[in-house]
Amino acid sequence: MRPTPEEWSTEHAAELYRIDAWGEGYFAIDPSSGHVVARPSRTTGPSIDLMDVVTELGRQGFQTPVVIRFSNILEDRIASLHDAFATAISEHGYPGEYRALYPIKVNQQRAVVDEVYRFGRRFRFGLEVGSKPELLAVMASAEDPDRLVVCNGFKDDRYIEAIILATKLGRSIIPIVENFSELGLILKHARAYGVKPRLGVRVKLASQGAGRWRDSGGTRSKFGLFPSELLDVHETLERQGLADCLELVHCHPGSQVQDIQRLKDALNELASVYVELARLGSGVRYLDVGGGLGVDYRGVQAAVDSSMNYTLEEYASDVVYRVATACSAADVAAPTLLSESGRAMVAHHSVLVFDVLGRSGTSRSRVTETLPELEEVYPELPVPIRDLFEARDSLSPERLIECYHDAQQAREQAVQLFRLGYVDLRLRGLADRLFWSICTEVERLATNLEDVPEELGELETILSDIYFCNLSIFQSLPDSWAIDQLFPVMPIHRLDSEPTVKAVLADLTCDSDGKVDSFVGDENPSAVLDVHALEVDEPYYLAAFLVGAYQETLGDLHNLFGDTHVAHVELDGDGAWSISEVVEGDSAAEVLRYVGYSPDVLYERLRRECTESVSEGAMSGPERRTLLTFYRDELAGYTYFEHR
Ligand SMILES: Cc1ncc(COP(=O)(O)O)c(C=O)c1O
Repeated sequence: MRPTPEEWSTEHAAELYRIDAWGEGYFAIDPSSGHVVARPSRTTGPSIDLMDVVTELGRQGFQTPVVIRFSNILEDRIASLHDAFATAISEHGYPGEYRALYPIKVNQQRAVVDEVYRFGRRFRFGLEVGSKPELLAVMASAEDPDRLVVCNGFKDDRYIEAIILATKLGRSIIPIVENFSELGLILKHARAYGVKPRLGVRVKLASQGAGRWRDSGGTRSKFGLFPSELLDVHETLERQGLADCLELVHCHPGSQVQDIQRLKDALNELASVYVELARLGSGVRYLDVGGGLGVDYRGVQAAVDSSMNYTLEEYASDVVYRVATACSAADVAAPTLLSESGRAMVAHHSVLVFDVLGRSGTSRSRVTETLPELEEVYPELPVPIRDLFEARDSLSPERLIECYHDAQQAREQAVQLFRLGYVDLRLRGLADRLFWSICTEVERLATNLEDVPEELGELETILSDIYFCNLSIFQSLPDSWAIDQLFPVMPIHRLDSEPTVKAVLADLTCDSDGKVDSFVGDENPSAVLDVHALEVDEPYYLAAFLVGAYQETLGDLHNLFGDTHVAHVELDGDGAWSISEVVEGDSAAEVLRYVGYSPDVLYERLRRECTESVSEGAMSGPERRTLLTFYRDELAGYTYFEHR
């Protein structure tokens, strides 16, 4: 039973938005303010009020939309990954160690990679790159020879030459052979530069992953070597007296693996390959289980999209146990375990905050017309309009579905008559309003039914508002648009009062796909989000959580909405927070430049035209100045809706 508005408390809000289920303790609602707070050390320790951060950013001149990165949450994620493996290693008496490699593709932003590298130092965590540009970013900064850099992806001659040169510089860098031709290039450049090569192999697993990225594994996967090719690599190296150069065995079972069973299959297979290569006399000493460790975006702990049926601890325990068992059965030395857990490391620490600009919807439409009044204006009132009045007036709990069906049909007929020109715009609008008022009443009466007919589920969507939000889904939540990924979304304030409106969210782009209409729900996703009614001149802020992985660089410039501002928030030793860095979002000039315009040329063209207009008398001198100043300011301005 939903509480009455008087009974409503922040506890009800926490339950409604399931913040404890997906937040992993990093986010909570402060009962005294009704605001969402971030708690980097989870249940205990200092908290950071998201509204305070938004207010402080506003004071510094940065409006929403803004991504807030909580550095201390990132630090905690890294420590949690380490701790989970440390516990598993000690529980299983594993004689080796564990290190994570952060795959920078998950979020390549310089500030994120810098922080991951900084926080990972004490655990000797390394980095993974998947392309030449990613390598260029990392090879200049990852100086610590004690921390591995692993190189995946297609490698051309220059990519491999760069790896060998970085090795000369003392970097601890291992290229992974993804296809056989790369081996020749590695040996060629190693010889040329007099370097003893180090390398790994990516195994094409027979076991397929599960979920959206299942094709990253399996024999049809894009990357990796078949078992016969693994042997070819070993024998080629052996013939050249370089068998010990093969140090690492790697696989990648796909991102966001939902079902632990799939990971177990992949691990067993990978461990068997490792053992075989060790027995053959190669130099293997690292076993890299790739990415795939999931994030429970929905908080339902199930093997379904945007969720997972295991915990970090179970994952770590499975990796350690399976490798330990395979190695001890074959009497092979235990490898250093590596994982390329990107999503699980960085998703939680970023929150996208955006404001709502306005609404549209059915809920405030009223039917004030009466049938007799209309008959005076329209002596031959079309039958569907009469039917809608009839359906509305005969609604009762007993005839609920029947009246709803009648209303649906009458409205469809009214629309059809409008298309054919037999119904005018006024009656067309009336048909909508009558239909919506019937839906509202049907929904109200249905709450008293024991079994609500399934088809009435659609009423929630029909009656929901559209909240127009100051963001671009394509830029800031691309996975929500491209692969229907769910992100938890909720208001970050007013949570001590009941959200009385149901809405879907639409973004600023002029694309009908630019919307969010699937939200974290109890078991199944919900088609609407509970939000508060908008108040005049009062900003209303929503946030999408767990957006730190993949969203920033996969985002695109649809409608030329650019990168949002990004603020880094950090706690000091006394528990006080501060904004340590703000990366300013794109200006209009920057996004225009990206698509080939020169802002200077644009300005000059406009300037010339204004000057001509002044000489022709179409514009005054001051108007010319106003327009040009305006244009210049807008080129330098934020691409999003700016509040003045
Ligand atoms: C080779 C490789 N390693 C690691 C990852 C990161 O995966 P995740 O973010 O699921 O941990 C990926 C991403 O798909 C990948 O392709």
